Amino acid sequence: MNFPLYRPRRLRKSEQFRQMIQETRVTVSDLICPLFVKHGRDIRTPISSMPGYFQLSVENLLEEAKEVYRLGIKAVILFGIPKVKDEMGSEAYASHGIIQEAIRRIKEVIPELIIITDVCLCEYTSHGHCGIIKGNDVDNDATLEFLARMALSHAEAGADMVAPSDMMDGRVGAIRKHLDENGFSSVPIMSYAAKYASSFYGPFREAAESAPTFGDRKTYQMDPANALEAIREVRLDIEEGADIVMVKPALPYLDIVTRLHSEFALPIAAFNVSGEFSMVKAAASMGWIDGTKVMMECLLSIKRAGADLIISYFAKEAARILEEK
Ligand code: PBG
Ligand code: ZN
Repeated sequence: MNFPLYRPRRLRKSEQFRQMIQETRVTVSDLICPLFVKHGRDIRTPISSMPGYFQLSVENLLEEAKEVYRLGIKAVILFGIPKVKDEMGSEAYASHGIIQEAIRRIKEVIPELIIITDVCLCEYTSHGHCGIIKGNDVDNDATLEFLARMALSHAEAGADMVAPSDMMDGRVGAIRKHLDENGFSSVPIMSYAAKYASSFYGPFREAAESAPTFGDRKTYQMDPANALEAIREVRLDIEEGADIVMVKPALPYLDIVTRLHSEFALPIAAFNVSGEFSMVKAAASMGWIDGTKVMMECLLSIKRAGADLIISYFAKEAARILEEK
């Protein structure tokens, strides 16, 4: 393949040629839309660090879910803000908790829309950590039972898939067992398998009101320096019954997505997290980049790296662009 015999530009000379040899495409079926739900009525509180994103009360959430569904997006992932937070994160597994109510309402009206739930205690605990605190740290094994109860309460309310994001060891197995024993063996688990202790979650913690009140999450989330550890984490989760494995964040960890894609034969999801979204929005609002084009390029690169599914705050905007094409 030497010049001048081979000239790569031959196949780039028109839009038609370029489309014909395109290796990767983002489709609306790849996208999962995150939504934040809160108790009350008529609530539509803007999240200042995530322009265009809101905390919604259930009836507004329903309108948003209808719009998402109309755009052809197949799934939403729900995050809840409870009425009160306590040590044990009680609302997380309450049958009338905010997520459980939201699931029932959406399922009543749009049964076809896939509802995924985030399973983690940090939005519900007064200390903001992802599990039960003993001493100065999260107690792994004590937390498992609560996560399992939370996942079951979501399934009972009608969730189509649960997504544990807490990073406790053994949680996928504990959740799988508890769901199976209670008649929900057909509910899949999308595990946040390679979830890094990342600073890109900042805006989310405003949105979900879930910043830890002391310390950080480094004793349970992964060190950004590690790649082999991601393989070990994913292997464990698959052995415990994960159906989809996730890498989070997405863009700074595309190497991890690619490695998992070549190593494992399971669908891979990537979470294009809040900080990745906010950076694009901020630069676009300054006029420094074309926000729409950068958004589509980001999503494409996540797909090209090997992700099958992309959880992204851009889901709706991207779906509109894809609709036009
Ligand atoms: C809860 C959770 C977090 C995110 C998803 N689930 C925050 C965290 O771990 O601190 C981050 C999502 C985002 O930044 O968009 N454990
Ligand atoms: Zn958490």
